[in-house]
Amino acid sequence: MKNSLLTTLILGLLLSSTIFGQNTETPEQKANRMQWFADAKLGIFIHWGIYSVNGIDESWSFYNGYISYEDYMKQLDGFTAKSYNPDHWAELIKESGARYAVLTSKHHDGVALWDTKYSDLNVMKKTPAGRDLISPFVKELRRNDLKVGLYFSQLDWSHTDYPHFTKKTDRYKNDSTRWDSFLQFRHDQIMELCKKFKPNLFWFDGDWDYSAEKWQSKEMSEEIKKCDPKVILNSRINGYGDYGTPEQGVPITKPNDKYWELCMTMNDSWGYQPNDNNYKTPNQVIRIFADVIGMGGNLLLDIGPKPDGTIPEEQINILEELGEWTKKHNDAIFGTVAGLPSGYFNGPSTLSKDSTMLYLYMDYKPTGPIVVKGLRNKVNRIWVEGNGTKLDWDIKMKAYWSSVPGLLYINVPDDVLDKNVTVIAILLDGVIDLYKTE
Ligand code: GLC
Repeated sequence: MKNSLLTTLILGLLLSSTIFGQNTETPEQKANRMQWFADAKLGIFIHWGIYSVNGIDESWSFYNGYISYEDYMKQLDGFTAKSYNPDHWAELIKESGARYAVLTSKHHDGVALWDTKYSDLNVMKKTPAGRDLISPFVKELRRNDLKVGLYFSQLDWSHTDYPHFTKKTDRYKNDSTRWDSFLQFRHDQIMELCKKFKPNLFWFDGDWDYSAEKWQSKEMSEEIKKCDPKVILNSRINGYGDYGTPEQGVPITKPNDKYWELCMTMNDSWGYQPNDNNYKTPNQVIRIFADVIGMGGNLLLDIGPKPDGTIPEEQINILEELGEWTKKHNDAIFGTVAGLPSGYFNGPSTLSKDSTMLYLYMDYKPTGPIVVKGLRNKVNRIWVEGNGTKLDWDIKMKAYWSSVPGLLYINVPDDVLDKNVTVIAILLDGVIDLYKTE
């Protein structure tokens, strides 16, 4: 009797985990699904839309009243995509070292970059581009072995059934029929994207006006996972996603999210804005990237193509210099995990997945040997990543009667320094073992 009860219980559990799929995903199953993302480290965000025509803020410029809605929409006429070369885009992305890209399929202005059958407000029907711009890019990404991400704004300020239109004008307050019709529209477009492009990742945005309940976020995320059980969702679907998305501000200490991705502009704008010259230098971007991967995150670095589809020179330069650096330091970046907690080394670091290799990142020229504290392991070998030079080290302050490990001093000569960030590789005698102050 007892046994049959147990069998029923186990069977029931098994059955519910198959029926409800992602609902009961185990941590191991999730880790498997997230693996490519955790290993990827670098993605390229692409904000491409009609806002590039005037070179103004994406969607927000009319919402905030810097331009009228009518004038904003006049940009449709200038969105030509006439030099759009998705092959070149994918190649640039690949060269940067990125493993995935996220393209804005639809921003808050509601203009779809694909030939959606649920609205005429799309580049095929309403702009001289006259065609679906997502398909050829998706194809090129896949050809280059890059994962495909699609950004999608859930709110749509152009849709007549979305309650809000601009900061000052609401279309309506409470009207459940209209809201339901909007939810249906948002559902239809998301499912259309899922079926048509089979993205590896959905990057949602614009959930902030309403609660998860009102957006039916749980139901929506379950539907998407039915469409593709492997798909990854960012968390901007009222938290019903897989990973955190800090925006612009580099976290100071390691975030609590197991998976996270910092999205960041190259200058101060997401879309193409020729008047915004406040570009970070390639050196600054590389140093931010090192910080991010040292804390176990990904960097989603944004570019904003022009209305004709070409990518601004400054952005190409950053991608290229970043690419040189990522190529040189491949093993220290991709497939690694977060490095030492703060206090052990002056700078970011990463660890190989098996935790037997430690990589130290130096964005400075040292005035003496660099130092690692609290390392209990024996060191087998130290070299300069991407250069191969062996380095000398010695241990100081190791008292035979104390359990505190000595200080590991490593000599890094000037001639091995990278012009951006130097990476020192340390082969340990086994899995890293750190001393912790009691
Ligand atoms: C914000 C902004 C949006 C931008 C996005 C990128 O949510 O509303 O304009 O596209 O961040 O992360």
